Amino acid sequence: MPSKKIEEALNEQVNAELYSAYLYLSMEAYFESVNLPGFANWMRAQTQEELVHAMKIYDFVNERGGRVILKQIEAPQTEWASPLAAFEAAYKHEQKVTGLINELVNLAIEEKDDATNSFLQWFVTEQAEEESSSNEVVQKLKTAGGAPDGQFLIDRELGQRVFTPPTAKGA
Ligand SMILES: [Fe+2]
Ligand SMILES: [Fe+2]
Repeated sequence: MPSKKIEEALNEQVNAELYSAYLYLSMEAYFESVNLPGFANWMRAQTQEELVHAMKIYDFVNERGGRVILKQIEAPQTEWASPLAAFEAAYKHEQKVTGLINELVNLAIEEKDDATNSFLQWFVTEQAEEESSSNEVVQKLKTAGGAPDGQFLIDRELGQRVFTPPTAKGA
C-alpha cells in the first residue's frame, strides 16, 4: 500500500498525463485547421502515448491497493502562432513533465517506497525520449526557417509516425 503522500502524488501525475494527452489532441486539431495532416498525425500518436502513460500509473495505483481519484483536467491552449511555436510549446511541456517525474522519484526515495521508485524509472527513461523527439522537430523546423517547401517535407515525414501500443505490461 502506498503512503497517502505517494498516492496523492501519483494521482496528480495521472492528471498531468491526461492533461498532456489533451494538450497534444488540441495541437492535433490546430494542425488539422492549418492543413498540416502529417503534423496532426504526429500529435495523434503523441496523444495515444500520453493515454498509455496515464493508464500505466492508474493501474499501478490500483495494483498497490491505492485509490485512483480523477480530477478536473485543465483546458489546453487551442491556437499557436506557427508549427514551430506549437512544437516549442510541446518541448517546453515535456521538460516540465520531466521535472514532475523527478519530483516523484525524490518523494519515493524520501518515503522509502522502493516499488514506486522502481516503477518510476520507466518514466525517467521515457521522458528523455519525449524531450528529444519533440526537440528534434523544433530543430528541423528551425532549419527549414519557415520555408513552405521545408515545412511540406517535414509534414510528410511526421505523417509516417505510427503509434505502437504497448505489448502486455511494462512495455
Ligand atoms: Fe507522458
Ligand atoms: Fe514516448
